[in-house]
Amino acid sequence: MKNPKIYLDYAATTPLDGDVLKKMMPYLKDKYGNPSSIYKIGREASEAIDNARSEAAKFLGCKETEVIFTGSASESDNLAIRGLVKGLQKTKRTGEKIHIITTQIEHKAVLETCKDLEKEGIKVTYLPVGSDGIINLDDLEAEIIPETDLVSIMYANNEIGAVQPIKEIGKLIKKINKNKEHQIYFHIDAVQAANWLSCNVEELEVDLLTLSAHKIYGPKGVGVLYARENTPLSPLIVGGDQEWKLRAGTENVAGIVGMGEAIKQVKSQKSKVKSIEKLRDKLVADVLIRVEGSKLNGPKDSENKLPNIVNFSFKGVEGEAIVLSLDQEGIAVSTGSACTSQALTPSHVLIAMGLSDPEAHASLRISLGRHTTLQEINYFIKILIGTIERLRKISGR
Ligand SMILES: Cc1ncc(COP(=O)(O)O)c(C=O)c1O
Repeated sequence: MKNPKIYLDYAATTPLDGDVLKKMMPYLKDKYGNPSSIYKIGREASEAIDNARSEAAKFLGCKETEVIFTGSASESDNLAIRGLVKGLQKTKRTGEKIHIITTQIEHKAVLETCKDLEKEGIKVTYLPVGSDGIINLDDLEAEIIPETDLVSIMYANNEIGAVQPIKEIGKLIKKINKNKEHQIYFHIDAVQAANWLSCNVEELEVDLLTLSAHKIYGPKGVGVLYARENTPLSPLIVGGDQEWKLRAGTENVAGIVGMGEAIKQVKSQKSKVKSIEKLRDKLVADVLIRVEGSKLNGPKDSENKLPNIVNFSFKGVEGEAIVLSLDQEGIAVSTGSACTSQALTPSHVLIAMGLSDPEAHASLRISLGRHTTLQEINYFIKILIGTIERLRKISGR
């Protein structure tokens, strides 16, 4: 099977970068030592992990001891939330409640974790968002109660690209913490933001931060959790002493090396922000002008959206039908989150923003990346126009 002619689903995953693969290869073959072994190839593997950790720490502006490698961003989100709850439970007095605040538009890795914790008696508040997909700071402040222990809010949304006011939230939590008996910890899922926005944990004033390698041109199956020193996390996987005793299991050395190299390369991508924004703006303008019954979902101003994710609804046409038709033309796009695109339920993100069920079902996510060109965008628009017209004729709408 050939690769798609045009890949416009970089928010689902990114292709592995050639230089990243080169750096990983020795650890898949000759340098196969277990990093816990004290002989040469073991030490080499351990040093390779140290180097990757140092890259991650530089990127996050934190200490190396605050970087935990995991098996995915989903695991990092779970470790941040469940691990904190587990850690806090050790110090709570009997009957003392734990309260988490999150949003209605989080990735399932956060939402399902919170729903699971609710079954265990943890109180969770799901903040609403406006029609632009952004939370209101006053809503957040109003929901903070003496029992609040954790605020978990995604940096940028994977379906609509909305960027939340993380710095302002960090400041607000810091201010509230000054007069609070026990601290509120602040976790952000920075998976989609990492390619484009600063992830410096001091600037953002966050305590926990999640990253995924495969969204930044690294390998699948590797995540990072940043956890500020003295955050009372308990491990979810116990066994060996790896990852500061917070994630047992022999390390995925090649994957971690790939993560380190991918993080290092993110810097070069940041210089591309303007050119990707230009392509996105052309795409949005062309679609809205040339495709009748099209609507842009998500933030309208550049300031609070990622440069690479756009989401449209096309009146009267099912998103799945568009995805399958475009696939026939060698174009890969998506209806929303890759994890839910098999499900027939409409996107929880679009519903939270106030879209009707039919509007949410008629949605399409297009996400640009490092390799996207103007030619690809022009070709995509041409094919999209024909596809929508054809599908509307078939359905008689
Ligand atoms: C915002 C966000 N968080 C978490 C994840 C899960 O990442 P992973 O595939 O590494 O578990 C994704 C992947 O789509 C995502 O977009």
